Amino acid sequence: MAEIWEVLTTVLVGFLILDFLKLLWSSRNYPPGPLPLPLIGGLWRIGTKLSEDAFTKLSKQYGDIYTVWLWHQPVVVISGFHAVKESLINCSQDFADRPLSSFLLKICKGKGISFSNGHNWKEQRRFTINALRMLGLGKTAMESKLEEVAHQLVETFARAKEQPIDPLPSINNSICNMICLLSFGFRLPPEDAKFQMILEYVNNYSKFGGSTFLLFYELFPWLVKHLPGPHQKIQASVQIGMSIVKEESEKHSQDLALRQPEDFLDLYLLQIEKKQSDPNSTFDHENMAVCIMEFFVAGTESTGSFLQWALLLMVTYPDIQDKVYREMETVLGSSDSICYEDRWKLPYTQAVLHEILRSKYVLIGTPRRTVNNVNVCGLSIPKGTLIFVDFRSVLLDPKQWESPEEFNPNHFLDKEGNFMKREGFLPFGAGARVCVAENLARMESFLLFTNLLRSFKLQLPEGVKELNQEPLVGLALHPKPFKLCAVPRCRSS
Ligand code: HEM
Repeated sequence: MAEIWEVLTTVLVGFLILDFLKLLWSSRNYPPGPLPLPLIGGLWRIGTKLSEDAFTKLSKQYGDIYTVWLWHQPVVVISGFHAVKESLINCSQDFADRPLSSFLLKICKGKGISFSNGHNWKEQRRFTINALRMLGLGKTAMESKLEEVAHQLVETFARAKEQPIDPLPSINNSICNMICLLSFGFRLPPEDAKFQMILEYVNNYSKFGGSTFLLFYELFPWLVKHLPGPHQKIQASVQIGMSIVKEESEKHSQDLALRQPEDFLDLYLLQIEKKQSDPNSTFDHENMAVCIMEFFVAGTESTGSFLQWALLLMVTYPDIQDKVYREMETVLGSSDSICYEDRWKLPYTQAVLHEILRSKYVLIGTPRRTVNNVNVCGLSIPKGTLIFVDFRSVLLDPKQWESPEEFNPNHFLDKEGNFMKREGFLPFGAGARVCVAENLARMESFLLFTNLLRSFKLQLPEGVKELNQEPLVGLALHPKPFKLCAVPRCRSS
């Protein structure tokens, strides 16, 4: 018996040594990074639970471009403004692909925008940008509908009658409803069964997206896909999402020939019709459904977390909150409504919104894959390498920002108090894959934030001294659950 153990131990040790040598040999083709160990690669430096500043620590030691091995999979991390600009902006097409992992292929099937590549991605992305431009910008019918959602959020806060409320559910309802408006042309009451299903879909997706379980799924898909777990829930949610889009698309097609297109679904159905004789067209019902479901996940998580941070910071910095309020009062006077165009007259408010997104960046990073062999900042990265872009490090880059760790709206104001754009402000990504809905996200955030701040003074509940600013790491970086009191403002009008 003892001999068997000896043989097994020798085989195991031999296997580990061989694996280690193989890793060392492969790692010479990639930028340097933590020593890859057998079985765990470079995970010993990160751990299984991702912390907010895990990558900051690594870039301090290995530089702006470094490799972390996930077992046998090298991941090149790009951080800091200079390296991100050199790679994503100056070599945009070389970094245009997304890695399509087992899980993503199962869920998105290479369709939609975020997790598709090549011809499909280009067509869907180009069409979506144009469609959003047509629907979302300028003083359009869509903007007034979004304003109505903002007013509803104000009403929800008012109903709390100054008692402590958790802002998250009502913020998520508002944002999800904005995406409903954009996609389907209507909004739904929060208690509606369909609306609840959409919210559950988004919730399941986000929880799974940030979980350790996903990492196991990606490393051992052949095993994990047969086990019970949150991935089974996601697949059921995706089916529900698909059926909601299918049901709406049938309703929209009925009278589309008789009216003007009013939402994304209308525009997409017309595009399918227009392109039906083109054999290379990627416009079909499945792509349409994946694009719309992506809007719900990408839009709700990011904008929702951003607004949660916005409210938390306004409660934490009451003097900044008051300054925003006073600026709006001075500029807009007795006018009840506020529209997106007003942002040009509100430099301080604009600076505060930008600073919230900079200092509390909501996404931990985004995955890319190199399309070609590429050389950046003197380091070569082979074709097909998985890339992780640490945008957070750009927004906290000490070479770009005077006080990166501080919440300081002056980062976006010149000496005269005018709003000023900053080159290092890349919360929506950069290059070929930059967020398709940046303008929409800015409009939604502006309308929800300004309407709330014009209507209420936000403050800590009695007995609470301060709010925790440690983020919860998931698909996005959320604040920990918190409550605030919304005290109605007595406006001068
Ligand atoms: C505050 C709000 C938002 C932030 C901070 C944000 C940020 C981002 C970032 C960083 C990326 C990745 C860019 C890259 O890889 O370089 C991205 C991509 C994307 N975002 Fe957003 N986003 C926001 C809102 C939205 C909304 C409201 C929607 C949809 C309605 C949306 C849809 C998308 C899509 C579809 C992509 C994938 C683009 C592609 O792969 O070509 N985002 N976003």
